Amino acid sequence: MNNIVVLGSMNMDMVLDVEQYPKEGETILARSMEKIPGGKGANQAVAASRLGSNVFMIAKIGMDENGEILLANLKKDNINIENVYIDKVNPTGNAIITINKSGNNSIIVVSGSNMKITSKDLDKAKKVIDSDKDIMVSQFETPIDITVKAFKLAKEKNIITILNPAPAHKVPKELLENVDIIVPNETEFLKITGVEINNTQDARVGCENLFNKGVKYVIVTLGEKGSMILSKQKEELIPAKKVKAIDTTAAGDSFIGALASKIDAKNLNFDNLKSAVEFSSEVSSIVVTKKGAQFSIPYLKDIK
Ligand code: ATP
Ligand code: RIB
Repeated sequence: MNNIVVLGSMNMDMVLDVEQYPKEGETILARSMEKIPGGKGANQAVAASRLGSNVFMIAKIGMDENGEILLANLKKDNINIENVYIDKVNPTGNAIITINKSGNNSIIVVSGSNMKITSKDLDKAKKVIDSDKDIMVSQFETPIDITVKAFKLAKEKNIITILNPAPAHKVPKELLENVDIIVPNETEFLKITGVEINNTQDARVGCENLFNKGVKYVIVTLGEKGSMILSKQKEELIPAKKVKAIDTTAAGDSFIGALASKIDAKNLNFDNLKSAVEFSSEVSSIVVTKKGAQFSIPYLKDIK
């Protein structure tokens, strides 16, 4: 069990079930619409907490019903919400998620209060980024400059930092220098390295610059093909479990939450990272068989 700080987004997901995505200019009918708690940061926090870790959330919601629901959910999941701030002007983040009949999704995020986290907010939250924490996790649905500042603080306290560069965005050098583990999917890997992955050789070429900047491990998630772990010296492909996916939303988030929860933070090496990745793949394979972001994330007791 780790003590984990998550700096990240909280969104209310509006999930639409469709036969297939509309073409440009087309109007279609959805089969259903559901309101489900999500947001990459909150999903990762919920996964880590349900899998047994102590989680501290740094986030910002609006002064509205969605914000209240999301906050209550984090509380129910035993996540520390002392550093979830309230924006009196901007609404809580939303995501419009369309799921087609293959279980794939397309997502549009309306950031709202997520992108309004300020340096002053982080100063208030500073006390949680302390040496009693093992891991800090962040993504790109909140301001990048705040993540840079938070990861610098984390590294000063010897906390292991995990960056999920999602949605895809180039990673500034100042941030890479403070990242221990980066977890992109294939699209994000292409965005941050310029390399399209077809095999491990491509992945290694793409990782070179990341390793030179100080990143210790790169874990590329490859959907149903599994994930690849790379260090400067080694690489390994971890296949995904074979399941029938009905909604892949939060596959990546649950993978990262599980990873943060399972990592041996005091003695991180390739072999124990590989065990953590195997565990994370197991968790995500459960998530894709259920609908909705936080609705689909399992508890430790549900994992074999
Ligand atoms: P999302 O944005 O939908 O949350 P992602 O693109 O960030 O996901 P993926 O690479 O799709 O992340 O998935 C993360 C992990 O989840 C994979 O490495 C794999 O272990 C597991 N996974 C994803 N899709 C499937 C699937 N169809 N079957 C089994 N496991 C899956
Ligand atoms: O990764 C899935 C998440 O992305 C959704 O819950 C949605 O809110 C967007 O942030």
